[in-house]
Amino acid sequence: MPPALLNNRYRIIKTLGAGGFGETFLAEDTQMPSSRRCVIKQLKPVANNPQMYNIVRDRFQREAAVLEDLGDGSNQIPRLYAYFSEAGQFYLVQEWVEGETLTRKIDTSGVMSESSVRALLSSILPVLDFVHSKRIVHRDIKPDNIILRQRDGLPVLIDFGAVKETMGTGINSTGNTASSIVIGTPGFMPSEQAAGRPMYSSDLYSLGLTAIYLLTGKWPQELADPLAGEIAWHRHALNVSPSLAAVLDKAIQFSPRERYATAREMLSALQYSGVPISPTPPSPPAGEPTEPTAAVSPRSTQTNTYTSSLGDVQKLAILGSIIGASIIVGLVVARPPQVVVAPIHNTQPRSIGWLRIGAVSKTAGFAYVGDPLIATKQPVTISPPVVPSPGAAVTVTTGVNLRKDMPRKPKYDLPEKVGVLKEGQQIIILKVDYFAESNSAPIAVWAEVGFPN
Ligand SMILES: Nc1ncnc2c1ncn2[C@@H]1O[C@H](COP(=O)(O)OP(=O)(O)O)[C@@H](O)[C@H]1O
Ligand SMILES: [Mg+2]
Repeated sequence: MPPALLNNRYRIIKTLGAGGFGETFLAEDTQMPSSRRCVIKQLKPVANNPQMYNIVRDRFQREAAVLEDLGDGSNQIPRLYAYFSEAGQFYLVQEWVEGETLTRKIDTSGVMSESSVRALLSSILPVLDFVHSKRIVHRDIKPDNIILRQRDGLPVLIDFGAVKETMGTGINSTGNTASSIVIGTPGFMPSEQAAGRPMYSSDLYSLGLTAIYLLTGKWPQELADPLAGEIAWHRHALNVSPSLAAVLDKAIQFSPRERYATAREMLSALQYSGVPISPTPPSPPAGEPTEPTAAVSPRSTQTNTYTSSLGDVQKLAILGSIIGASIIVGLVVARPPQVVVAPIHNTQPRSIGWLRIGAVSKTAGFAYVGDPLIATKQPVTISPPVVPSPGAAVTVTTGVNLRKDMPRKPKYDLPEKVGVLKEGQQIIILKVDYFAESNSAPIAVWAEVGFPN
């Protein structure tokens, strides 16, 4: 047990965890006016001799610099406030992230929905991409090491394995320093990492199994099918769409060559596999804003003016419920860019604006490419009447206004009108986006479009 005041400064409040490399404490900083809370990770060097102590100290110093850099560069990695050594042990002082780990979240609230898991993956993959861009492999991605931050619901990545490796530094038979310890957690760790050769896609493997845990509540060990040599998880997640299952299956391939090579690649596969919409906040029944159809008659030049179908009180109520639904809001914030971006070809048409193309007949979840479009108060405006993929050529079936953008939270007011499309016109889909404004309204589908070149 460390002294009551560590480094003559940090008062320990409680132990948060204890592992083979030391303990993690919640503490308060007595030298900050607010007695700011912080997390202190105590790291015990495995080899305990003076020569090794110096080597470990140097590596610890380097690793602390890396953690400082990572914490400064991402809002979803705790900041490093300080580091020090005392009584032969090393300490990192980090930002305290108030929230709960994914393990705890599943314990208390049960498994997560596909849309929540998609939102979470889309929010954590850019963080991993950033970590990898610094040439760091996290090496211990698992539900215990991701905290859902209470303040905004964003997932925060903790417990970087590199520092633990420092603590395991020893001298091998050739006299070179070497890490004698494999960092990682059995089950979540791919074989190449267990063999001491972690690569970027090792983190994606662990993230894939983390997502599978969130969807099924089952640990990798419970899902392993030793005869088939694979993780048999589909039968525990019957509600998961084939497209998400395919992304996760690719991430957890045994052979790194068959996985996604980069976090970015996995992120775009996720986004192409189904465009997530924000989870629907509880709100009073309210229709989506009506997008008046432009005069269908090609002769008409009449401009339609839009009036919102929502009263101000209703709008405020919706806004209030959005602010109130903390974890849902978190996921709204955490949700990925909702837009599927078409591959950039030289021939890609220039954007002429956004139009409402129809709705899909569900009130929450995802709209997928190929889902049938339905009419609500407003007609389907394209043919074929399905959610198109970026790049698709479609025909306008009902005259419709073009908008500068699509309606967005919190009010869903219609953006400025920039033109009109007429029946029979050919257009190219550039982006597709969705929203469900309330839990009774169907998901409205919008597309940004251009004319064929
Ligand atoms: N920055 C932090 N903010 C809040 N809680 C943390 C933070 N870092 C760690 N914890 C909590 O302490 C536990 C142990 O810390 P961790 O860094 O994962 O160490 P280890 O797994 O090596 O014991 C975590 O699972 C988490 O519950
Ligand atoms: Mg941990």
